[in-house]
Amino acid sequence: MSISAEQRARLQAMGIGPVWVLRHAQAEEGGADEIAAAPAAEKTSAAAASGIDQMDWDTLEQTVSSCTACGLCKTRTQTVFGVGDQHADWLLIGEAPGAEEDARGEPFVGQAGRLLDNMLKAVGLARGQNVYIANVLKCRPPNNRNPEPSEVAQCAPYLQRQVALLQPKLIVVMGRFAAQTLLNSDASIANLRGKVHHYRAHPEDSAIPVIVTYHPAYLLRTPTDKAKSWADLCLAQSTFQQQH
Ligand code: URA
Repeated sequence: MSISAEQRARLQAMGIGPVWVLRHAQAEEGGADEIAAAPAAEKTSAAAASGIDQMDWDTLEQTVSSCTACGLCKTRTQTVFGVGDQHADWLLIGEAPGAEEDARGEPFVGQAGRLLDNMLKAVGLARGQNVYIANVLKCRPPNNRNPEPSEVAQCAPYLQRQVALLQPKLIVVMGRFAAQTLLNSDASIANLRGKVHHYRAHPEDSAIPVIVTYHPAYLLRTPTDKAKSWADLCLAQSTFQQQH
């Protein structure tokens, strides 16, 4: 894939330079040209019972904002529903809000979010323009601890409904936690990267391609892996383009 001068500048903003463009992202870490079909997400009885799987955007957002299904409601400042174009082709999924997101009510607004914005720009995208950003958890875990399985189970129907309403053409999951949750896998990020996975919010839905990449917060701590995340974005872009 060739890149424009502008994209080259954006890559430098991501901290990648000199720019190395991998011609075959799958060459990374032994990934083959494999299409791994994720198990269709289970339609949780909780979602059906509470009607989440029938909600429109406004009702869903209102329901999330008053959710008390797990203990995180006691420590959150506010819920962080998601942000962006509700008709977006691209859906980016992170783990859970941090302190700044909890304070502002928007995903990825801290330092990791600024890197994410630069990563989006590098592939000609922008927050809110054909991109929707959400997290697996809608509430901040105290002290940014890892989400508990029970919290994920309670929150999962909200993300499932967001996917069903959005019907994105491509999903990019950022970080091990979001990847393992969405793909229902316990594989390492090294194993999940470099392949096109698939996700279905419900068995009857068509499969949406899923690309796994590093979490921006990890990239801030490990800038040497930024080149790999660029390879992931190239794979995401080419996967998206193949659908048109
Ligand atoms: N990390 C995430 O996974 N999500 C956010 O919204 C912010 C930081």
